[in-house]
Amino acid sequence: MVDYNPFADAIIHGDPLPIYKRLRDEAPAYYLEEFDTWALSRFEDIWKASADMKNLTAANGTTSAHLLTKVQPVTPMINNMDAPDHTRLRSEFRKAFAAPEVAGLEPMIRRIAKERLSACLDAGRIDVIHDYSAHVAVTVACTISGLPAEDGPFLNELVWRFFQREEGVRGMTSAGLAALTEMFGYFHEQIARRRRSGARDDVLQKLLEFEQNGRPLDDDALASHLSMLIIGGSETFPKTLATIVRRLAQHPDQRRACIDDPGLIPDAYNEGLRYDMPTQFLMRQVKRPVEFAGAQMKEGQGIMFLYHSGNHDEREFPDPDRFDIRRRPPRILSFGYGPHSCLGVNVARLEGRVCLEELLARVPDYAVDEAGAERLLTEYVQGYWKLPITFRA
Ligand code: HEM
Repeated sequence: MVDYNPFADAIIHGDPLPIYKRLRDEAPAYYLEEFDTWALSRFEDIWKASADMKNLTAANGTTSAHLLTKVQPVTPMINNMDAPDHTRLRSEFRKAFAAPEVAGLEPMIRRIAKERLSACLDAGRIDVIHDYSAHVAVTVACTISGLPAEDGPFLNELVWRFFQREEGVRGMTSAGLAALTEMFGYFHEQIARRRRSGARDDVLQKLLEFEQNGRPLDDDALASHLSMLIIGGSETFPKTLATIVRRLAQHPDQRRACIDDPGLIPDAYNEGLRYDMPTQFLMRQVKRPVEFAGAQMKEGQGIMFLYHSGNHDEREFPDPDRFDIRRRPPRILSFGYGPHSCLGVNVARLEGRVCLEELLARVPDYAVDEAGAERLLTEYVQGYWKLPITFRA
């Protein structure tokens, strides 16, 4: 019988895909007694459950911290809200994340990408995360949220500390919690500054005007929403860019195809998102008894969506462990699905296209310095923490 625990060494330090395959084949709804939680591993089941907010709730948290290790209380963030408040807030944010608005960010993204690459050309070496994609992601996240873009590097430092894990410590460390506290202090200052400086047309302003239970959000709630936008907006994208850069180096024919026809780059980024989804899982809690993958789930139980497993489900993707930029699948799980699907999907896809276009145009023959690469290993987010590449100066 397959044995699965998201905190197990074999999952965090090894390759989780063989275990995920066994889960899909042998126990598509796997019960984790220790956490009174079910893990869904097949694409279709995750897709269906992600859309079901009648029987499931996000209000008790959606990360490993909330539902596996039961860290409460849940901070108010858009991803932890249920309808109707969630629907109202999402529609307030819609314009800022809509395709036409996001397309306006392209010149800024390209400028940062070019500057970062130019600064490293002579050295013949760049860390795809720290020297490149993280700058793009945090600047964009600050701009959309309504925070000063020049504070991006400071916020990046805090986000990185927040995700660090310690050997032998389950979940977040005390250093991670301290980073979150510091981040909240910064948001409080920014909120006060905005109140003094007056209204602008951005996401922070929408938050300041939003009312819940007939009252405006207090400063802690506002800071909490901002932390979701900054962490969600700046942390995942660099990991996805690093893995696609690495996969293209492993598949020189596919890299050459992208260089010869940059029109293939969005497909390549999409395949990278499918193949190496950094977020191993997110969660919901059962609100009303419900059945998924043949299992009867009770009120109060947790339910995990194993995204990385679903993205390698052979029931959805023929030959799923083959990396193929021409696959063009009709759907992937990397941005979730349903009412809570990623608000930043247009942002992430634009950042991915522009950063890859610039990289492949400037340093097409790069090589990955595997010895210098370092992985970030957590129970729910995995990927590279450092991924240096080298090229001819
Ligand atoms: C490649 C990069 C990204 C990936 C893989 C990603 C992935 C995801 C996923 C899987 C969810 C669903 C959460 C759930 O169902 O519980 C989500 C939600 C969300 N993402 Fe992203 N994301 C990315 C980039 C971004 C960016 C750049 C932003 C903002 C600038 C952003 C903002 C959000 C927000 C606000 C939500 C919550 C939406 C809601 O609950 O209604 N994401 N993201």
